[in-house]
Amino acid sequence: MTSPLKNDRFLRALRREPVDRTPVWLMRQAGRYLPEYRATRKAAGSFLGMAKNPEIACEVTLQPLRRFDLDAAILFSDILTIPDAMGLGLYFVEGEGPKFERTVRSAADAGRLDVPDMETELRYVMDAVRVIRRELGGSVPLIGFSGSPWTLACYMVEGGGSKDFARIKALALNDPATLHRLLAVNTDAVIAYLSAQRAAGAQALQVFDTWGGVLSPAMYREFSLPYLQRIARELPRTDASAGDAAQRTPLILFGKGNAAYLADLADSGAEGVGVDWLVELGEAAHRTQGKVALQGNLDPATLYGSPDAIRREVRRALDSYRDGNGGSRDGHVFNLGHGMSPDMNPDHVAVLVDEVHGYSAR
Ligand code: CP3
Repeated sequence: MTSPLKNDRFLRALRREPVDRTPVWLMRQAGRYLPEYRATRKAAGSFLGMAKNPEIACEVTLQPLRRFDLDAAILFSDILTIPDAMGLGLYFVEGEGPKFERTVRSAADAGRLDVPDMETELRYVMDAVRVIRRELGGSVPLIGFSGSPWTLACYMVEGGGSKDFARIKALALNDPATLHRLLAVNTDAVIAYLSAQRAAGAQALQVFDTWGGVLSPAMYREFSLPYLQRIARELPRTDASAGDAAQRTPLILFGKGNAAYLADLADSGAEGVGVDWLVELGEAAHRTQGKVALQGNLDPATLYGSPDAIRREVRRALDSYRDGNGGSRDGHVFNLGHGMSPDMNPDHVAVLVDEVHGYSAR
């Protein structure tokens, strides 16, 4: 478990230490765009069947690393494991995405929720982390993750994905106390979940606030930001015995549509902030003032472009970051601004990774 990492570029970038080239990983790097993933999924039967089997979760986590020179692995799981363990009954409908058998829409519903036990109800996640760490053998660091309290609440209230977030926004307007109760229990659960993943071996932690950007600024500042700030403050990331601040397990707060809040997120106490493609990286660096590492931010649709176009856009993003960061590549983790899609070409991912490493090494 304690074997030194062969490639610690990703962790060094998150600590804003010098790197020989910009590290890169991609949100949803494991998934349906890979034929080997589709084959494993077919044999396993279902997505949840894969996620709940630690050996299969490990195999699928490693698949993109066998093909591409990625600088980090991300646990193969889902953000909706927490509400599932709270008893809401997660299931997937082919072509429709995640659904819940039970929703949370009243004070009574919210009052019934409790933080799940991490080593029983969510043991399969911690077992997957332990198996993946062992199989990685120190090649690259392993990222653990969770949804944000707000993003989890979206699925719990809506009962699945949503286009307009009508039910949760109505709850925010009509019964904010119930929504705050739900967000508070989600926050406790996220902190316990990420702590348990860290204890099991996760070497960095990312919170996905996928739906924070659907809120008006006033609502974001009431229903999402304070809970992200509480996670950044309260999530334990050092070992009391080691006492070495440099070895903190970095926390990355990713948010779609978070450009207007980058200064607040940089002050949250998190080590990294993930940004989408609606803001220039140089501008994001300017707004965050070197207080955090930045992760991002290529438009995922760039992968539909030609290899030449992909290389050009990668160089543009790397240049933008350097421009906003005093000419240095340090403190940047290259990524997409959101996850990959099933119809993307794996060969284009190889081009992206090659250009990030090649161009940033200059
Ligand atoms: O990045 C990775 O490779 C790690 C694995 C990962 C998955 N989900 C696997 C998955 C991660 C980090 C997630 C997070 C997640 N899950 C988020 C936040 C990230 C984001 O994209 O903003 C959200 C909103 C979810 C909820 C969820 N789970 C959705 C919307 C879907 C897709 C449904 C569909 O049919 O497209 C899932 C299922 C899911 N989670 C898949 C994967 C690979 C597809 C499963 C399949 O059908 O094989």
